[in-house]
Amino acid sequence: MFDRIAPVYDVMNRVMTAGLDVRWRRITAQSVVRPGDRVLDACCGTGDLAVAASKVGGRVTGLDFAPRMLERARRKLPSATWVEGDLLALPFAPDSFEAATVGFGVRNVADLEGGLAELRRVLVPNGRLAVLEITQPRGFLAPFYRVWFDRIVPRLGRLLKGGAAYTYLPASVRRFPGPDQLTGLLRSAGFADVSYRTFAGGIVALHTGRAA
Ligand SMILES: C[S@@+](CC[C@H](N)C(=O)[O-])C[C@H]1O[C@@H](n2cnc3c(N)ncnc32)[C@H](O)[C@@H]1O
Repeated sequence: MFDRIAPVYDVMNRVMTAGLDVRWRRITAQSVVRPGDRVLDACCGTGDLAVAASKVGGRVTGLDFAPRMLERARRKLPSATWVEGDLLALPFAPDSFEAATVGFGVRNVADLEGGLAELRRVLVPNGRLAVLEITQPRGFLAPFYRVWFDRIVPRLGRLLKGGAAYTYLPASVRRFPGPDQLTGLLRSAGFADVSYRTFAGGIVALHTGRAA
């Protein structure tokens, strides 16, 4: 599925978020990456979060299991290391990274707890993790969000070649744990000082934590 949407992925991101995704990725990178860090950007897709981490001074390794997404990422930042691999079986030794980021990725992983455990395994003690993910807003924005996500986004996707997969997006968000639940899962996976902030009225959440 991700190989099919690779050609339209960046355009869809900008359209769906009115360009706000660029700022969210920048804040995500700044929240955990320090200059000189070895950084894993897991589920890197077309590489925008990896690029943001590199701008903060990280030495970035991007990992994704979709080769067409990786091709695009490699073109954006040839100096990074790009690895075709699975978050559920990361091809790295323990203590390989000082920081890890995942942008709009963990929602798609078949075994969320397993993925979080892998991220913990490859981080050094006190290594920093940031997880940026779509969430379901509560309150007054909820009805607008449902119309946008459940009706408009899938239709926009169908207009673009390869974009039919966007019909899958609303269901994947509905299935995904809310921010408080994800906080609990991160703690259970071995992260301390877990906290989160939301963007755009609660449509997107950024969780951060420290490998305990
Ligand atoms: C919605 S895209 C996010 C891309 C990018 N991180 C961003 O910020 O836009 C999700 C990506 O996760 C990748 N992915 C999903 N499950 C994966 C897994 N188990 N291992 C590696 N990559 C995975 C997909 O191939 C896809 O490129």
